[in-house]
Amino acid sequence: MTAALETRTRAWNAAMSASPGPLELTVEASRIDGVVPHALRGGRLLSNGPGWTHIGGRLAHPFDGHGYVRAFEFQPDGSMTLRARFVQTPAYTSEAAAKRLTHRGLGTNLGDHFWQNLKFGNGLRNVANTTIVRWNGKLLAGWEGGAPYAVDPTTLETLGEETFGGVLAGQATLAHMKHDVALDRLVTCSIKMGPTTTLTFREFDAAGRLLDTRVAPMPGSLFAHDFVITPNWYVLASNPLQMKWGELAKAVFGASTLMNAIASDARVPGAVYLVPRRTPGPVRTVTLPGRAFVVHYGNAFERDGAVHLDACLFHDFAFGAEFGFRGPNAPLDPALPDTRVPQHLYRIVLPDGATSGTWQQLAPHGVDFPRVHPGHEGRETPLLFGATRADTRHSDPFDSLLRVDLRDHSKPPQTWFAGDNVFVGEPIFVPSPERDHEGHVVAIVSDGAAERSTLVVLDASNLEAGPIARVPMPLLPYAFHGTWDRAL
Ligand SMILES: [Fe+2]
Repeated sequence: MTAALETRTRAWNAAMSASPGPLELTVEASRIDGVVPHALRGGRLLSNGPGWTHIGGRLAHPFDGHGYVRAFEFQPDGSMTLRARFVQTPAYTSEAAAKRLTHRGLGTNLGDHFWQNLKFGNGLRNVANTTIVRWNGKLLAGWEGGAPYAVDPTTLETLGEETFGGVLAGQATLAHMKHDVALDRLVTCSIKMGPTTTLTFREFDAAGRLLDTRVAPMPGSLFAHDFVITPNWYVLASNPLQMKWGELAKAVFGASTLMNAIASDARVPGAVYLVPRRTPGPVRTVTLPGRAFVVHYGNAFERDGAVHLDACLFHDFAFGAEFGFRGPNAPLDPALPDTRVPQHLYRIVLPDGATSGTWQQLAPHGVDFPRVHPGHEGRETPLLFGATRADTRHSDPFDSLLRVDLRDHSKPPQTWFAGDNVFVGEPIFVPSPERDHEGHVVAIVSDGAAERSTLVVLDASNLEAGPIARVPMPLLPYAFHGTWDRAL
């Protein structure tokens, strides 16, 4: 290993595995480099991600780390407060008491020998570590494969599993949820995987009451982590999966993991499913010009009957290199994701009634964590922000922020580079109340080598100018997803 890779590995592991525990702190305005814009004061950035992964001498896959909710609140006087709490799931309370792994995860076993993993009584390792949304007076910490956990919006104390009156109980629900602002509805998607797949989309009103349910049986096995909505469709890529049945059998008996038992199916061409929303009708399958595997979507909208979709798209996808995870007894390898071709941002157009669509790559960079104006989900929006790598040959770990002008695809994207071995999380766009295409971008960047994180604020019109405010923080674990929240 070269000295440079050794430094990078140390920095990446420090940033990914930081575990400061519950936090309560204030950063005075005098310690902030620059000035927090008045437009942000009184609001807060919420984020969620794994906050405890080194457990009892083993490294859990980051997907299996315990949910750690953070609230960065911009105060009227220009200071910032940070409150952080673990989500008190049964898996968390059990492992906090035992100080070791007690629940098997998506990519984590309890021990290296299968007999150490033959425990079926503990249920799912729902660690509520992936998303955070405010709904019905609560914060919902979402996880892949179960109901979200409700968290008190002020104290961040855990209120319990949120099943919407039992509707999501026992349902393998995706971590990503969508907010239809025009109708003020929360949209969820549950998935039943197997030789064929059943997707169930549900829509809840502002009081958490179920309004609509759409069950969509799909051919074959598919992978879904995210989806998007338009007024008339639920939209997601077909993401064909090949189940490795032998590996799945081994996983059941503790000799492998669920993550090892699935692979993208290279034999099947890329396609997008359009599932009718709120009206009956068949699911439309629209084929794409090449292979496609999508983890995250930016947005979708309808124009003249066509569906336009912005997605971060892999042509070739392999499970297992996420965050450089090499198993419970080795450090994360930040060079491991470099072995795959990065995902790129595409605008996909699915014409009205057509069975095939077109696509256009919008940036030369590898892009993930695509985010748009929070009020524009499902309708046309001018800007998209994402996390990227300055070196366009590579994908994660990300070191830069990216801004794409969706109104003019000929314009090159803007980027801001945070520094060597400084890791950049998901950017959140906080639009100006007056002008949709202006506002600020907030993100957390972590320098693992210097053991510090920084909340950065940038002018959304000019990312290249760099942060207009930098709020110093202790080293915080890399988060997955966040949201902008109004003042309490
Ligand atoms: Fe995600």
